[in-house]
Amino acid sequence: MVEPQSPSTARMIDYWLGGKDHHPVDVAAADAFESAYGPCAAIFRSLRAFSGRAVRHVAGDGIDRFLVFGAGIPTQSNVHENAPAARVLYTDVDPEVVAAGRQLIAGLERVDYVRGDVTDLDSIDRAVLDRVLAERESRPLGLVFLGLAAFLDDATLARTLDAMYDAVPAGSRLLFDFDAMELAGYPQALAMMGPAFHMREPARFAELLGRWTPTADGITPVADWRPDGTPEDVPDAFWGGVAVRQA
Ligand SMILES: C[S@@+](CC[C@H](N)C(=O)[O-])C[C@H]1O[C@@H](n2cnc3c(N)ncnc32)[C@H](O)[C@@H]1O
Repeated sequence: MVEPQSPSTARMIDYWLGGKDHHPVDVAAADAFESAYGPCAAIFRSLRAFSGRAVRHVAGDGIDRFLVFGAGIPTQSNVHENAPAARVLYTDVDPEVVAAGRQLIAGLERVDYVRGDVTDLDSIDRAVLDRVLAERESRPLGLVFLGLAAFLDDATLARTLDAMYDAVPAGSRLLFDFDAMELAGYPQALAMMGPAFHMREPARFAELLGRWTPTADGITPVADWRPDGTPEDVPDAFWGGVAVRQA
């Protein structure tokens, strides 16, 4: 692969998770961010553990099809590993990330990865949707929306979540997270995220969910969402939960 010129958040996360799908430019950006904020690996491992628990919980409720947005690089404990019997379609807007992701899932049955922009659901190849997620009009889906909210302003986020609601049948689940206000205390690290980075108070995110109804577990710091044993001792940088599409 050609060396990328600029870092990608997906590959920086891969680095923090201990994966191998990143480049020197990503490691440099990750190290610079950590010098302004502090160690990140434990935070992203906790976030990934939340993702695993949420996927297993939703799969345990009988959801056997997942559409993953902004999937990044499905390097460890990803959706197809936590719901091995499910059909999974990963999507991401970044063609380089899609190419790396496709290599990782090559040869797996029931799993595919294509380019798609979460803010424009029609951007996802209809033929692939039909093949991987057949019967999606009648069978509830798990929509995975992790690591994306920070990249969308309030109006775009609300419109996107609303379109996702209309695109799936009743009983479908939305697995979500968002950046809480943690970086407000670290101006240098916040500046590195650029002007298009959006943190939110939990109450504000709840408003933006619109018609999606959070489960009784609520919207919590990710480490506290249905923990397996004692929650990880990490800053409450990410909050999340699962929401349901009503009838
Ligand atoms: C922070 S990474 C998160 C990756 C993964 N979901 C996770 O939780 O580890 C964000 C990913 O979202 C992708 N992304 C950003 N904007 C997007 C959009 N509008 N539609 C789809 N993917 C997008 C980026 O390319 C990147 O791979």
